[in-house]
Amino acid sequence: MPAVRAEGLTKMFDGFKAVDAIDFQIEEGECFGFLGPNGAGKSTTMRMIHCGSPVTSGKLEVLGMDVNDSPRQIKQVIGVAPQENNLDPDFTVRRNLTVYGRYFDIPNGECGRRADRLLEFMQLSEKRDEMIPEISGGMKRRLIIARAMMNEPRMLILDEPTTGLDPQARHLIWEKVRELKRQKVTVLLTTHYMDEAERLCDRLVIMDHGKIILEGRPRELIDRVIGADVLEIDVPGDEMEAYVKERGWQYERTIDRLLVYTDQGQRVVAELKERFSMSYYLIRNATLEDVFLRSTGRALVE
Ligand SMILES: Nc1ncnc2c1ncn2[C@@H]1O[C@H](COP(=O)(O)OP(=O)(O)OP(=O)(O)O)[C@@H](O)[C@H]1O
Ligand SMILES: [Mg+2]
Repeated sequence: MPAVRAEGLTKMFDGFKAVDAIDFQIEEGECFGFLGPNGAGKSTTMRMIHCGSPVTSGKLEVLGMDVNDSPRQIKQVIGVAPQENNLDPDFTVRRNLTVYGRYFDIPNGECGRRADRLLEFMQLSEKRDEMIPEISGGMKRRLIIARAMMNEPRMLILDEPTTGLDPQARHLIWEKVRELKRQKVTVLLTTHYMDEAERLCDRLVIMDHGKIILEGRPRELIDRVIGADVLEIDVPGDEMEAYVKERGWQYERTIDRLLVYTDQGQRVVAELKERFSMSYYLIRNATLEDVFLRSTGRALVE
C-alpha cells in the first residue's frame, strides 16, 4: 500500500487552479520532496494531504484511506509541521507540546515524557518554560517540528522545515529526518534548499504553476536534465554563443553568463579555448539547483 496516492488531484480557489490535476505516488518509508517556485502549489498539496483543506476534484488516498471519508483517522497517524508559525503564543514552549498531545488522547504522564524527550532532541530543553514570543525564529521552527512528532506519526509532513535556521539547526533536523527514515517513517518535505533536497529525498517532484513538471530521484534528474558538468563562462561574446549553439551543446544564456551543460566539461573548455579568449570560466558538478532553474526558468514567478 502506498503512503500517498494522488490521481488528478486539483485545488481551485475562486476559479484559480492552485493545483492542477497532478498524479503522484509516495511509497511508505521514503522521503519524498516537493520543490517549486513560490506559489507553485506545494503547500496547497500538503494541506490536502493532511486534511487541512478539502480536495476540489480528483482522488487522494493517505495510508490507504480516502481524505474525504477518513480525515480524523488520517490526522491521528500523521504529523504536520506547517510552513507558517501556528504555535500558541499564550503557552510556554513545553505546554505547546503537551496541549497538542491531548488531541491524540495520549495519557498525561506519557505526554510529558514525550514532550521532554522531543525538547531534548531539538535542543530546546533550556527554553521549556519560556513563552513563544520570547524564543527566536529558529527555535519556533524546531518546536513546530517537535510538536509534529508528539503523536509518533507514521508519516511526517515538513513544509519548509529549515527555512531561516542556522547551519547547526539545519544539520540537527537533517539528522532527525534520517533517523525517522531508518524507522520507516514516511517523510514529505518541501524546501527551497536544493542541497537539502539532494541529501534527504529519495524521490522528488518539481512543481510549477500547479503542475508537476519533473519527477525522479535527485541524481537521476541531474543526469537527465543537465548532465555531469556545468561550464560557466563569464561575459561571453555573441560569437562564442553562436559556436556553442552550432555544436549542438545544451546551453543557457543569462544576463552575464553562458552556461553549457555537458558530460565532458574539460573537453568543451579545451575546444572553446582554441577559438576564443576566455577571461573567466568555471567547470563544476551539476546540481539539483541547475535542474530547478533549467526546468522552472530563471525569471521570478509572481
Ligand atoms: N487560501 C487561499 N485562497 C486563495 N488562494 C490561495 C490560497 N492558498 C494558496 N493560494 C494560492 O495558490 C497558489 C499556490 O500557493 P501555495 O501556498 O500552495 O504555494 P507554495 O508552492 O507553497 O509556495 P511557497 O514556496 O511560496 O510556499 C498561490 O498562487 C497562492 O496565492
Ligand atoms: Mg508553501
